[in-house]
Amino acid sequence: MKLFSSVNDVPDINAIVKEALHLKQFPYAYKNLGENKTVALVFLNPSLRTRMSTQKAALNLGMNVMVLNLDKEGWALELQDNVIMNGNTVEHIREAAAVMGQYADIIGVRSFPGLKNRDEDYSEMIFNKFVQFCGVPVVSLESATRHPLQSLADLVTIEELKTRTRPKVVLTWAPHVKALPQAVPNSFAEWMCRADVDFTITHPTGYELCTDFTKGATITHNQDEALADADFIYVKNWSAYEPYGKIFPPDENWMLTNDRLKITNKAKVMHCLPVRRDLELSSEILDGENSIVVHEAANRVWAAQAVLKRMLEGIG
Ligand code: CP
Repeated sequence: MKLFSSVNDVPDINAIVKEALHLKQFPYAYKNLGENKTVALVFLNPSLRTRMSTQKAALNLGMNVMVLNLDKEGWALELQDNVIMNGNTVEHIREAAAVMGQYADIIGVRSFPGLKNRDEDYSEMIFNKFVQFCGVPVVSLESATRHPLQSLADLVTIEELKTRTRPKVVLTWAPHVKALPQAVPNSFAEWMCRADVDFTITHPTGYELCTDFTKGATITHNQDEALADADFIYVKNWSAYEPYGKIFPPDENWMLTNDRLKITNKAKVMHCLPVRRDLELSSEILDGENSIVVHEAANRVWAAQAVLKRMLEGIG
């Protein structure tokens, strides 16, 4: 594997889920695979889970890890070609990515969208320029439009905890006070549309996701209808795709409570975290027996380890 940026980079999602669960059982089975190999984790935005879980995954494989908080510690990057760099940018991504590729065998990149220019965000300009210029395998640590390590961990969690062969999985929009990216719901949707699950998306009018990610999903504006008989509920806020990056006055009724869970099949509640308590998701759910958010976050290690293992095997 040379690139992990979306579900399309994985030929067999069942096989990689199985591999992640195997690594969960035997974390150090491949502790020599990454000997003398280095992964550089490059962050242009904050992170707790992605940074720590990917670092732990790499250490389990015997790799060296370098972390660069590029937004705070690096030079201001120029992304455009054919510009005279007489402004605030100090280093072009062409040199920066190429140099990082000299120090690392694998590079992980996190770059959020600006949520101002949809075409620019959905072209994945920053992530793709790293891929273009670094010369080594690249793993997405969340890009403008997708968060594949999160989605793989989510699928691992569903596979691990499901109680029927084809569970009903519901992605529900939740209230928030800020405009958040569509990366997590886009990514979750495209992974669920490829998985053996009965998948429904529910959100208020105006929060339709880009249809490139939702083909095959049932979509409804009626949250109760969506939640009926659900086995897993994935809670997440996102801003509008059209008009891009906009938010509307939040409808607090969309926040999940224990009362709303009564119509589900004792649904397990997921969230990628971080979560704003009693805004996005109620404390009673987060502190209750239905919440699997910490379990889900723990599975980030095995998702990352499966991906890094495949990349290391590709490097030889
Ligand atoms: N879920 C997730 O990616 O968390 P972080 O932003 O803390 O990495």
